[in-house]
Amino acid sequence: MKGVILAGGLGSRLSPLTKVTNKHLLPIYNKPMIYYPLEALIKAGIRDILIVTGGNSAGDFLKLLGNGKEFGLKHLNYTYQHGEGGIAEALSLAEFLCDNDKLCVILGDNIIEKNIIKAVKDFETQPRGAKIMVKEVPDPERFGVPIFKGKRIVKIQEKPKRPKSPYAVTGIYMYDSTVFDIIRTLKPSGRGELEITDVNNAYIKRGEMTWEGLEGWWTDAGTFESLLLANQLVAKTGANNL
Ligand code: DAU
Repeated sequence: MKGVILAGGLGSRLSPLTKVTNKHLLPIYNKPMIYYPLEALIKAGIRDILIVTGGNSAGDFLKLLGNGKEFGLKHLNYTYQHGEGGIAEALSLAEFLCDNDKLCVILGDNIIEKNIIKAVKDFETQPRGAKIMVKEVPDPERFGVPIFKGKRIVKIQEKPKRPKSPYAVTGIYMYDSTVFDIIRTLKPSGRGELEITDVNNAYIKRGEMTWEGLEGWWTDAGTFESLLLANQLVAKTGANNL
């Protein structure tokens, strides 16, 4: 399986912190934010990794991470997303790397307490389709929210005003290589972006989506509140623990 970290976008919700640098280079406790999703993939056994960056200071990712030697990697792949066309648009830039392989995609501002190796191994044996990881949260209206029928997810709503479950779809997604065909069919949403939730709903419609609950804490770090929380959580327990 290949790994993709989506670290594009302009991080405008964190302005002025992001005026002269990229959100994913900001510190979370004792490391730059991008280290956490990178270590999450590596600890799940994924070695072939692409970083999609964009916006400000894209060159600083190379300075910081180089070829991944510090992380025990032989090589790191990079690409650049112009503008802020959405998470699914950023993912479309990974097609060149995919080569019919499966992908584990993680958003560059998502930080997790526990290792995801079990979910990754489960998806390796899943014949086709996709897998998402969900987590119960106090503020589901900030996220993609799954609607359940029994144990089945029948739809995901992006940032609904009245969430139909207390769960968030986290920014850890696993896809087969047909994801790029799905992205080609998408139209920009109300906020002008190609939405990852539309990709996930396409897999749900096909009956090819599985899900798992995420163990341990999970947070994004894209707002001042969640950035502070991420720092506090990492300082307390560390991240990507076995
Ligand atoms: O954190 C999980 C949530 O992430 C999901 O529950 C939502 O369904 C999903 O839409 C997303 O919500 P956000 O609105 O919080 O995503 P945001 O725009 O903050 O982008 C998250 C990361 O995705 C960001 O750190 C970098 C990457 N990204 C985002 C955009 C808009 C890109 O690489 N390119 C982009 O154009």
